[in-house]
Amino acid sequence: MKILTVVGARPQFIKAAVVSRILRQSAEEVLVHTGQHYDYNMSDIFFEELNIPKPDYNLGISGGSHGSMTGKMLMAIEEVLLKETPDKLLVYGDTNSTLAAALAAVKLNIPVYHVEAGNRLGTLANPEEINRVCTDHVSSVLMACTESAMQFLAKENLADRACLVGDPMYDAFLYYGARITDKDRNALVSLDDKSVERPQKFYYLTCHRQENTDTDWKLEEILSAVNSLDYPTVYPVHPRNQKRAARICAEKNLTNVLLVKPVGYLTSISLVNDAEKIVTDSGGLQREAFFAGKQCVTVFDHVVWPETMVDNRNQLAKPNGNEIMRKLAMAQSIDHSYQPFGDGHAGEKICELLQK
Ligand code: UD1
Ligand code: UDP
Repeated sequence: MKILTVVGARPQFIKAAVVSRILRQSAEEVLVHTGQHYDYNMSDIFFEELNIPKPDYNLGISGGSHGSMTGKMLMAIEEVLLKETPDKLLVYGDTNSTLAAALAAVKLNIPVYHVEAGNRLGTLANPEEINRVCTDHVSSVLMACTESAMQFLAKENLADRACLVGDPMYDAFLYYGARITDKDRNALVSLDDKSVERPQKFYYLTCHRQENTDTDWKLEEILSAVNSLDYPTVYPVHPRNQKRAARICAEKNLTNVLLVKPVGYLTSISLVNDAEKIVTDSGGLQREAFFAGKQCVTVFDHVVWPETMVDNRNQLAKPNGNEIMRKLAMAQSIDHSYQPFGDGHAGEKICELLQK
């Protein structure tokens, strides 16, 4: 069995780390990196830390508009598929790399296996929603993380192709979370390359969504809100909005926000585990906060992971300082027996489906 896997962005490297480790015990895997994320700390660091095999191909395609990036990837992936003639294509999540690979494969009659299928916001105004809806509809096997995703797939008449496998991000959290060292905990670097000491107590912020970072005012509201908290906020900034974040913090004198370069996965999980609370717009971070039993406020208009939205554990907020602060202050109760993201063995289930 020959499986061709396409990845391109940070969260996909983490999921591929979980699955590749198991898949390669019984199948041949060809790994294609589209190049969508390319900085050392957005790409290589994940391959090194998580022992992901070196990609067989790096297509070097990044940046530009959504259409041009997706189109270039589609053309380049088609060439690789024609050369490698895999039995199946494996893709993760909802990035432009996911959609490009799915379209290239289905047009060559190669079955598409989609991990993290079925999540829905209910609006095509979000670029990731377009990617996940289109990918799901051209896939042969839809591997869902949660019951709610299974229900969305059923509503779109896709139930006969859908399978509940659990969330490989939960597998990763358990597996790599047990391997964090002090070196990982103390790996913060400022935007101008100086080592940054991690505060004893801190909040953890990530914010990179196009919706929150493509204009000043939303990011300004979010940064001003966390700046007023009782402990500093550690904010590893995605390259897309580093300049904007640095300028806003300087102009508004937001000295309680520690802007640092993006960190590796082990450092990120250590920040999740040790933070007081979490503010994010990341799909991955809001689940990790849930896995770690940390209170989270998600600055976004739509629920992406409904299972996390219980007992105030994860609450949506508009990019509005008062709302963010009010929701962070709300009491939270945690039922540790509630685990809707599987049993930590999603990777095995994905590989079993691929082998069938
Ligand atoms: C993409 C995904 C998003 C995911 C995120 C993970 C899509 C539509 N979106 O968004 O779902 O949450 O990845 O982090 O695919 N850049 C760099 N260096 C890098 C990577 C990006 O400088 O290593 C800059 C480039 O200028 C690029 C911009 O960041 O134009 C945005 O990157 P892009 O890959 O288009 O989207 P993300 O915001 O990363
Ligand atoms: N993450 C990381 N370094 C960072 C910020 C995030 O390793 O500087 C991890 C985070 O712990 C989570 C994943 O990246 O596992 C989430 O990726 P991202 O927020 O980029 O994408 P999303 O999940 O929103 O698609």
